Amino acid sequence: MIVTIRRGICLKNISLKIMRIDIITLFPDIFRGPFDFSIIKRAIDKNLVTIGLHDLREYATNKYKSVDDYPFGGGAGMVMAIEPIDGCISHLRGQRHYDEIIFLTPDGELLDQPLGNRLSMCENIILLCGHYKGIDERVRQHLVTREISIGDYVLSGGELAAAVLTDCLVRLLPGVLGDETSALSDSFQDGLISPPVYTRPAVYKGWAVPEILLSGHEAKIKEWRLDQAVERTKIRRPGLLKDFSE
Ligand code: 6GU
Repeated sequence: MIVTIRRGICLKNISLKIMRIDIITLFPDIFRGPFDFSIIKRAIDKNLVTIGLHDLREYATNKYKSVDDYPFGGGAGMVMAIEPIDGCISHLRGQRHYDEIIFLTPDGELLDQPLGNRLSMCENIILLCGHYKGIDERVRQHLVTREISIGDYVLSGGELAAAVLTDCLVRLLPGVLGDETSALSDSFQDGLISPPVYTRPAVYKGWAVPEILLSGHEAKIKEWRLDQAVERTKIRRPGLLKDFSE
């Protein structure tokens, strides 16, 4: 099974390297909600991932503990300064090697499932969350290895995007989802949108579940699901089908 050969290790009792995600942010508390529940919390509790939250303000170098400054050349808005960011990244890099240092920004590379799959193979990554008007360009030029956006719209800061990326990666780690194959049957994993699912009651307010699903005929059900997935993809996301057939 594809999932069991990820990172070339997790066969039976051979030890499984845990992924480490260090998040640099001005608002570490934003992450307490998303990471304290459900799949991410279970992954942390099971030691399948370590998430470090780093308050950028602790790396401020001046007595006011400021992390931003006026833009050279004038203009509105403050700019996140390079020193605290470099201080924090250097501190982390002194402790371990990082495969990627990712800056979350709306003008970055668009996150999609293939990119999520690739990044989930990393051992250690840093996620840097921006705020204010922008970030000193030298951070982007010299300190980060990648820039990622989660969609074509603007959020107030990189934190929610970092939480989205973290969720996308963590659920792909071996052992996180109960059924090892279930991440593979997600929408997008095979270039198709998932078929509809139903549970009891078979009829509710006169709304009936498709007969075929109650038939017990495995092969026919499989065929129906694939048909539904293809039809849905054609209607909802034709671009995915195109990518798939290319
Ligand atoms: Cl990564 N950051 C911000 N601020 N807005 C976004 C985004 C990231 N991705 C989409 N919109």
